Formats: sequence, structure tokens, C-alpha cells
Amino acid sequence: MVKTDEKLINPNNQTAFDLHSYLKQRKNLVEEALDNSLTIKKPETIYQAMRYSLLAGGKRLRPILCLATCELTGGSIDIAMPTACALEMIHTMSLIHDDLPAMDNDDYRRGQLTNHKVYGDDIAILAGDGLLAYAFEYVAANTHNVPAERIVKVIARLGRTVGAEGLVGGQVLDLESEGKADISAQTLSFIHTHKTGALLETSVVSGAILAGASDEDITKLSRYAQNIGLAFQIIDDILDITATDEELGKTAGKDLQAQKATYPSLWGIEKSRIQAQNLIDDAIAQLTTYGEKAEPLREIANYIITRKH
Ligand code: FPP
Ligand code: MG
Repeated sequence: MVKTDEKLINPNNQTAFDLHSYLKQRKNLVEEALDNSLTIKKPETIYQAMRYSLLAGGKRLRPILCLATCELTGGSIDIAMPTACALEMIHTMSLIHDDLPAMDNDDYRRGQLTNHKVYGDDIAILAGDGLLAYAFEYVAANTHNVPAERIVKVIARLGRTVGAEGLVGGQVLDLESEGKADISAQTLSFIHTHKTGALLETSVVSGAILAGASDEDITKLSRYAQNIGLAFQIIDDILDITATDEELGKTAGKDLQAQKATYPSLWGIEKSRIQAQNLIDDAIAQLTTYGEKAEPLREIANYIITRKH
């Protein structure tokens, strides 16, 4: 059993919910599980390359969301941890491939050199492929005390989220839109709901599926996730303009340089901020029936809009 601080996981007590401690504690749990998930074997280079990016830090927002909704809907951290790790493996592999010279050609990610800068394009492609395949194996082989049909549901959903219906589809439209000044709000929304939103939504929903949540819960949590996903992207676009390289841990100002259509380029920074706030308000409104138990999800939504990196 994972030991957790009662104050952090039981927001029903009298102590005010402290998001900073919650995120720190959850991030530590996830880091430890990720570290244990992947040991170095032969050929060492590929395992080192996979670990290099998987353990490079990051907010671990997707795993944390998965654990949070599993608990909210009656499950435990233990049953959701393999899926939480798989979500991070998928997210990491998408970033390794996104940074390749054939796509965004980026040199820095999470404050360190990108995978291909350290290991070369060939190994970086394979490290991404290795992480993607391992994510599915990891959920199937390590999820215990959950009915098989829920695990199959989660695996099917992960597959749809990664493929042309999700990340891959969003990335293709993103690449095709580069350098085009006249991208519509609909195209931009398609890119983001697929490229970023889909994995965030699956992070939120998979925790609930593992816990055996009702369809009604899943619908509310999906809407929460769609809203925070889009708000997350709007804030990302704003930070690309307003934050420094150091704050972001990657090169700032890339969107303007690549003439990428973004929400601030369509609406301006102020209107973009207002839209993001509206989305966060709607996300939080989905949590009303859960009372104080939903405090982590509520505060994560608020954090998305105030974050600086
Ligand atoms: C970062 O976007 C990129 C993503 C969120 C995902 C990209 C998806 C792929 C490369 C497809 C991966 C392949 C599979 C099989 C899943 P960004 O470039 O806008 O943000 P950044 O500034 O952080 O790079
Ligand atoms: Mg990129």
C-alpha cells in the first residue's frame, strides 16, 4: 500500500487544502514509480535514452490527474499508478518525437538537452517507440485488483488517444498549419483538442474508469478535462510570448518565430486570458456534486491558469 499523508488525501478534514504540498507529494510518488518502472538492461543505450527523458522532471500533471480522479470516484492510488506511469511514458515519447529535426527541431526540453541532441535522431526515434510500446505493456501487466474489462477499456482509450484520432492527428494538422497566417479558430481548436486535450482527458477519465465510476461521473469529468485542456493550451500560447527560456525550460518565442497560429495571435493576449478563465470556471462547475473531495481537481484547474511555466 502506498503511504500518504492523511491531510493531503483527505480534504474532508479541517486543514485548508494546500495545493503546493499536494502536488509535491504526488509528484514524488509518481517519480518513484517511474524510476522503478524502467530498469536498464541490454542494449543499455536504448534504456538510458528512454530513462533520460522519462525521468527529466516536468509537472507530472497527467499522472497526478489520473490518481486524483481514481481516488475521487472511490478507487486507490495503487490501482491507478501503472496507468499514471503509462500516461507519462506516452506524453514523454510524444515530446521526444515532437522535438526531432523532422518536426519542431528543438534543442532543449525540461531544462536539459533534447533526447536527439544527446543520443542522436536514430536512438531518439527508437526511445520514443520503446516508451510507447512499454506504456501499453505496463498497464496490462501491472494493474492489479481491477476487473479486466476496465483495464481493457483504459488500454483501448489510450490507443485511441495516441493515434490519428488523437495526438498523431493533432500533430499532423499542426505541422500542416505551420507558416499559414490564416488558420481559423476551428482548426486551432482541432489541433489542440487532439494534440494536448485528448491525453489530458484520457488522464482524467482513465482514473475514473479504473475506479468503476458511473457514466454520469465520466461525463462530468470529461467536460472538466476538456475545459482545463483548452485553458492549458491557451496559457501555453501566452507563456510562449510572455515567459523567458529559463522559466519555461525550453526555448520561448518559438510560436512567433515559426509563424504558428495561436490563441493570442487570433484573439490577443487579454481576450485569450479571459477565455481561459471562462473555461476554468466551467471546469470547476462540473465538480459541484463532489464537495470538498474534489478540492485537488478544483485547485489544479486554478493552478493551470496562474502557472508561470
Ligand atoms: C508539443 O507541442 C507536442 C505535443 C503535445 C504532442 C505531439 C505529438 C506527436 C509528436 C505525435 C507523437 C507520436 C505518437 C505515436 C504519440 P508544441 O510543439 O506545441 O509544444 P512545445 O513548445 O512544448 O514543443
Ligand atoms: Mg514542439
